[in-house]
Amino acid sequence: MTHPDIASELSARVVAAVKAAVDSDISLEQALVRPAAPGRPWDYQSNAAMGLAKRLGMPSRELAGQIADHLDVDDVSEAPRVEGPGFLNFQLRPAWLEARLAWLRDHEHLGVEPATRPHRSVVDYSAPNVAKEMHVGHLRSTIIGDALVRLLRFAGHATIPQNHLGDWGTPFGMLIEHMLDEGWAEGGAGHSIADLNAFYQAARAKFEADPDFGERSRRRVVALHRGDPATLGLWQGLVEESERHFDDVYELLGVLLGRDDIAGESFYNAMLADTVRELEEKGLTVVSDGATCIFPPGFTGRTGEPMPLIVEKSDGAYTYDTTDLAAIRHRICALGADQLLYVVGAPQRLHFELVFAAARMAGWLTDEIDVRHIAFGSVLGEDGKMLRTRAGRPVTLAALLEEAVERAGAVLAERDVPDGADPPALARAIGIGAVKYADLSTDRERDYVFSFDRMLSLDGNTSVYLQYANARARSVLARAGAAPGAGPFTLAEPPERELALKLLQFPATVQDVLSDMRPHKLCTYLFDTAVAFSDFYDRCPVLRAEEEALRASRLGLCELTARVITQGLDLLGIEAPPRL
Ligand code: ARG
Repeated sequence: MTHPDIASELSARVVAAVKAAVDSDISLEQALVRPAAPGRPWDYQSNAAMGLAKRLGMPSRELAGQIADHLDVDDVSEAPRVEGPGFLNFQLRPAWLEARLAWLRDHEHLGVEPATRPHRSVVDYSAPNVAKEMHVGHLRSTIIGDALVRLLRFAGHATIPQNHLGDWGTPFGMLIEHMLDEGWAEGGAGHSIADLNAFYQAARAKFEADPDFGERSRRRVVALHRGDPATLGLWQGLVEESERHFDDVYELLGVLLGRDDIAGESFYNAMLADTVRELEEKGLTVVSDGATCIFPPGFTGRTGEPMPLIVEKSDGAYTYDTTDLAAIRHRICALGADQLLYVVGAPQRLHFELVFAAARMAGWLTDEIDVRHIAFGSVLGEDGKMLRTRAGRPVTLAALLEEAVERAGAVLAERDVPDGADPPALARAIGIGAVKYADLSTDRERDYVFSFDRMLSLDGNTSVYLQYANARARSVLARAGAAPGAGPFTLAEPPERELALKLLQFPATVQDVLSDMRPHKLCTYLFDTAVAFSDFYDRCPVLRAEEEALRASRLGLCELTARVITQGLDLLGIEAPPRL
């Protein structure tokens, strides 16, 4: 059996009561039903009366009273109470909560039903640049994108991850010339690059200092774009070398991205001319200063000048813009996507707005397609500036992650590691989890300060706190011997009730995160759940509960808590070791 979540269930009843009381139609959203903050003497509240009273020119408290008189919620809640200017407060019936909890426990996906209209969702994320080490700027894209893919899949959507590698364009001329100077054979067999950044920097330095090298580089780009086989072979070697570096980071991070998900800029090369031709044929392009441009209406710069997308430069070269136009066309027309998510930093906002506008003008993007730039802020150092190493360079992702694992090992060394646990595996789960969680638990559009001390703290909203809560719940279950069974729940004490209410909000939280793609809401939810569990655990004896039925019910709460936290962390791409 499927169930709407509690808030939508109550919303439907409020909508019906409004209709019966004052013959007005309001939407489910306008019922404004929200869970109460913990510790309130009610569980859910509706703020519908205030807004509607204004519309109807009625005193809001009186309207709330009339809605309450017509509310049919007897099965779910005690009689609703009207308070303040017209709040409607609901106190759920224990028997109803207990039955719901049993349903949640017996539900394979913890109440999350497969989407009735599943999306085909392209998620563009990670997208580092070839021949450059990944840096913290790519961290957020990789972590957020991976969490979104997991959440979408869990909710029954088809996802197509696309790693839009920066593997094409002008820098490759100088990089390939540098490879030749370094004695790379065709295809680069037998060579490797230990430090991608150093390699890039050396090429760059030569490019700036040596005009002859600069000239060779420019000729080399032309050869690359014309498809000269020897040049392509060298380029391929460089791309593969970079992909090996990316694979190492992805593996350490434990993200789902693989080689099959790579559709880099070069992938669209063969489609660029066609894409531009189609835009020209549709009459959307304008030649400005020799460059072929699109000027989507409504976009102007600071002095009011129209903003272009440059689809072809005066020398015939294509751009980052052209590639993104070809990519959106491919994703819609060839991959058949009806949802497009671009997990890319906030500074590229204008770029994507222009691309989306042009894609609409071209008729590729329609109102049936949900397209969004999933923007995110910067990672700052403890000094509040962009995170840098002491030498002032962007921190490499690999170095950062290795330090996190090392520090997690130090945290573990101060505690007793349970018998049979594998300390390096635990250090990895804790260290990598901490980096991911610190990132995901901040609203993605905000900057955040990267602090190992804070992210590895055992109290506060951290993944370590959640991992310990899960391990604690699992250890109670292990000590109980037998599994909790499938008997009825009994919610006798307030902390049991608070925990039950949180657990029941899991499915609604997953849907809420997917409505605006903000994983921090799942983090907040998991943290609140772990706090409710800790309160329950401190105040309600489980293994020494007075009665057998109560003991079984409390064990059931421990088990559901462990499942919810483990599943929630998994959706964020974070491991939940059963023992810690
Ligand atoms: N490689 C780019 C960068 O590092 C990000 C690409 C994002 N995706 C896209 N379709 N433009 O800034």
